[in-house]
Amino acid sequence: MNGRNRKRAAGLAALLLLILLTGCGAFYDVRPEEAEETGEDAWTEENGGLVIVGFSQIGSESIWRTANTNSMQRALTKERGYFLIFNNARQKQENQIKAIRSFISQRVDYIVFSPITESGWDTVLEEAKEAGIPVILADRKVDADASLYTTWVGPDTVKEGENAARWLEGNLKEKNRQNDDINIVILQGTLGASSEMGRTAGFVSIAARYHNWHILDCQTGDFTTAKGKEVMQQFLRKYPDIDVVVSQNDDMTFGAIEAIEEAGMTTGIGGDITIISFDAVKEALELVQAGKINVDIECNPEQGEYIEKVIRMLEAGEPVEKEYVVEEKIFTFRNVSQYLDERTY
Ligand code: AHR
Repeated sequence: MNGRNRKRAAGLAALLLLILLTGCGAFYDVRPEEAEETGEDAWTEENGGLVIVGFSQIGSESIWRTANTNSMQRALTKERGYFLIFNNARQKQENQIKAIRSFISQRVDYIVFSPITESGWDTVLEEAKEAGIPVILADRKVDADASLYTTWVGPDTVKEGENAARWLEGNLKEKNRQNDDINIVILQGTLGASSEMGRTAGFVSIAARYHNWHILDCQTGDFTTAKGKEVMQQFLRKYPDIDVVVSQNDDMTFGAIEAIEEAGMTTGIGGDITIISFDAVKEALELVQAGKINVDIECNPEQGEYIEKVIRMLEAGEPVEKEYVVEEKIFTFRNVSQYLDERTY
């Protein structure tokens, strides 16, 4: 038995023990529909030569998140040499920590995880390091010591926030409103998530240069449509003269637009309220094309191929970078039509 197979056998034994102890056949949390889509199944002897990857996903709060999960599941297939253990943490950090511990006890070859918030990971990452399992961060960042993880693959969310503000600068100039008072509200994502923190910091750093840009309020809509709508309704009750909504993902934007329309106002090009959104999922790009969303700053969920490549390099003993930033675009009415057909999510 070689080293990897010995490790595999020990992992398999740990897994069987866990099943016996918990009386539970599914120690990982694959939603049935996801399992069917990806052909995910239980460990068998035949899986002997595969690289085992434990992936802890935050949840399924947004269309973007589902696209991100699909991207990982498409990239890490048996045909390509991987056995993927998928865990959906359902928006709870404690579930992610539990999943990572379970990956450690199963002695997976790699742990991939998308941290719900930046803080609170030191202890479990120390445990992974002690077990000698490389950790790859996907999408969001952690504020832990960089020696506790191997690499990170994700978007530059500060730049996304800056791009949103830069677009607003240009738009106000075009409308000859650059000297007007501009009232802005921000619908934030999950507080403490690197995508929320980055987008907020990026936007605010540029907004601070303009004495006539007034950020009236920032509240979290948790990256969901329902919460986005609820917070937007509160904003509308409190502030009768909102000019711009900066909504940190498309799902919240859908809720915000509903709230604005129910209040008898219009959004987008020529509308009462300018809408700046993030993610650029197909349904939102259709609203950009229809002129209801003014600009959509892309956040690229297709991270699976990048991660697979990093694992391949690590398997080959090659050095990897500490950070891999995914490519992203900005969509407005002017360019969106050429991209809509190719958008799959
Ligand atoms: O971390 C990326 C963000 O998380 C996306 O913008 C959002 O849609 C998702 O839920």
